[in-house]
Amino acid sequence: MKVAIFGTGYVGLVTGTCLAEIGHDVTCVDVDTAKIDGLKRGVLPIYEPGLEPLVVNNHRAGRLHFTTDAATAISGNEIIFIAVGTPPDEDGSADLKYVVEVARTIGRHLQTPAIVVNKSTVPVGTAGLVNDAIARELEARGASIDFEVVSNPEFLKEGAAVEDCMHPDRIVIGARDEKAVESLKKLYGPFVRNHDRFVVMDVASAELTKYAANAMLATKISFMNEIANIAERVGADVEMVRQGIGSDPRIGWQFIYPGAGYGGSCFPKDVQALTRTAQQHGYQPQLLNAVEEVNERQKSHLFELIKRHYGDSLAGKTFAVWGLAFKPNTDDMRAASSRRLMEHLWDAGAKVKAFDPEAAKEARRIYGNRKDLQVCDAMDDALEGADALVVVTEWRQFRSPDLKALKAALGDAVVFDGRNLYSPKDMEDAGLAYYGIGRGRSI
Ligand code: UGA
Repeated sequence: MKVAIFGTGYVGLVTGTCLAEIGHDVTCVDVDTAKIDGLKRGVLPIYEPGLEPLVVNNHRAGRLHFTTDAATAISGNEIIFIAVGTPPDEDGSADLKYVVEVARTIGRHLQTPAIVVNKSTVPVGTAGLVNDAIARELEARGASIDFEVVSNPEFLKEGAAVEDCMHPDRIVIGARDEKAVESLKKLYGPFVRNHDRFVVMDVASAELTKYAANAMLATKISFMNEIANIAERVGADVEMVRQGIGSDPRIGWQFIYPGAGYGGSCFPKDVQALTRTAQQHGYQPQLLNAVEEVNERQKSHLFELIKRHYGDSLAGKTFAVWGLAFKPNTDDMRAASSRRLMEHLWDAGAKVKAFDPEAAKEARRIYGNRKDLQVCDAMDDALEGADALVVVTEWRQFRSPDLKALKAALGDAVVFDGRNLYSPKDMEDAGLAYYGIGRGRSI
């Protein structure tokens, strides 16, 4: 099938590439010329495991095209995806200006009937706005062309996006029109050949499903962070508690890891946007408010532990920070807990030596050449001359450090473990002062 995808961010680029991989003819469109030129040369704007060879191979095979020319992209394509960003605006609502702009562009250039698929995370009611924007542009040029707007939210995780796209656990389709549903089933069919993973529903329910999924996952994390905070006060170990509850299938093992708070481009923004939607409809969502509040507090928790250890004497100290990305296997630092931590440390007059396997470039881009930040090329380099180590992201290579070397390298022999990677007993045996999240009395 012939497909156009507006937006070459995580969602658009991964979806487009995977659709090309299963044999569709895909054109990815973006307004960013540098991005599109880079993609044509095989230079990806993001780091995502397994994506680069797929982009290069499918581009070479002539199934994956990149362009800034919206008119060419729209012409003759039967399915047009909108996968542009919906950043939060000032009050936390999703800002739909990019989505609506793409809708207008589609309306201006549409020549043949098409299904317009909303893949961006958009509040309930957006399909209607997209529909109206396209219809207005068609009317303005006196054209009458059939089109149908469908909601098809994306559930891929950064760091595992290609795998998630190739093997989706469900494909939610919100549509009024049976023919549009059948087209999308045909498009995605090869991903789900042996299982019926399509969940078909009305448009509003599909739009809300996306927010409900992310809000539920964020709720699990904030819940565990709350339990961790209680554990610290009552002298319990939240890691034991986690193991004690995860085997109950009603609770499940996933997303019950306490830590430095959830970050990324999705949970913080989507919890806020769902809260605003509820409020706009006259409902005060108490649980969602609490999920966000707990997370905001949790993002400062590592710094609170550091302050508790050092009191007010942080000025002049140097902290090695392992992990800058908001989670492993990505270079994305949007709403990353590392940022909150470093900013607190800098405000207190401390210095940071940071290492991340993928996010070094991004950190340099965000923070420029600050004197109190040194971005290191190796995890051991970050330890040199540091007083303490703070682990913020659970990259695999941080899991079994040489504890003797850690003890020797760190001036104050203190480890703050924001992801509970280490055993408190091993740390104690190695002579390192250890602070985890929710692991016994640290308050
Ligand atoms: C999230 C969802 O998991 C995807 O299903 C969804 O498609 C995506 O948002 C989206 O809306 O596009 P993502 O933001 O890539 O995916 O990352 P997650 O793996 O969900 O992690 C989010 C944050 O939660 C990270 O900061 C991670 O460290 C934190 N987390 C996760 C915890 O603190 N504890 C856990 O147990 C799990």
